[in-house]
Amino acid sequence: MISILKALSVRRISVFCARKHSSLTTELLENMDKKSTWDRFYTENSSRAPSFKNFEWFFGFDSVRHIILPLLRAHKPDLDPAFQILDIGCGTSALGPCIYKHSPAAVHVTCADISPIAVELMQESVGSKAVQANNASSRLRFVEMDCTQLLAHYNPESVDLILDKGTTDALLRSKQGKGKATLMLSQCLKVLRSSGALLQFSDEDPDARLLWLETEMQKQGLMGNVLMQEVGELRGVVYFCYQVSPTVPS
Ligand SMILES: C[S@@+](CC[C@H](N)C(=O)[O-])C[C@H]1O[C@@H](n2cnc3c(N)ncnc32)[C@H](O)[C@@H]1O
Repeated sequence: MISILKALSVRRISVFCARKHSSLTTELLENMDKKSTWDRFYTENSSRAPSFKNFEWFFGFDSVRHIILPLLRAHKPDLDPAFQILDIGCGTSALGPCIYKHSPAAVHVTCADISPIAVELMQESVGSKAVQANNASSRLRFVEMDCTQLLAHYNPESVDLILDKGTTDALLRSKQGKGKATLMLSQCLKVLRSSGALLQFSDEDPDARLLWLETEMQKQGLMGNVLMQEVGELRGVVYFCYQVSPTVPS
């Protein structure tokens, strides 16, 4: 939570007027699982800036490219030649567009968010910049989607890589969000290919996150690995990457 408050207060909230500041901060502290909170956040954020700028909840693509790009290179195209990537709760982060831009392998990147305001901002920004992909077969799209309902949009075992930068954190830290975080994780595990991986970027302590991930995998009858690595420190907060690679026991 400290990191979120720091991110908010240091980066953007400092320009809010005092009253707006406290009410939006309170809303964020308690209701980060609610669409209305995020619609308000992205509306207020964009109305203050003279032109669109990506907002990173915490670090951006350059801090994690060494984790993500090797996973794309390891892809062996079989049935589906493009590597299917899903960024859940993309917000207005540049993570998805940067992967699309830098991946040497063909990737189909879907950036999904529950807030239509964030989705629209990203569609407009990418359209106006005409981002060029490294691989001509790569695709990038932004969609409004409740990621606790992934099976309404994806077939089981159809996604190679799911990215979650701060979204599970947001749900877990909300008054009524824990159930949604668990539901979102179980949907991610269902739509992931057996060769796939879920990467959660988070500041949650490994003792808590590893136990939660392993317990939820077991509840779904899945085996597999949960790996953890430290990504780095930002404004006094340490961030981790949790890599979940589920396998169905034979
Ligand atoms: C902490 S922000 C992280 C945004 C972005 N990943 C980043 O790193 O800047 C959490 C994001 O999750 C989105 N979100 C919250 N609940 C969601 C849900 N059920 N489905 C999809 N997105 C959701 C919010 O709209 C918000 O953009």
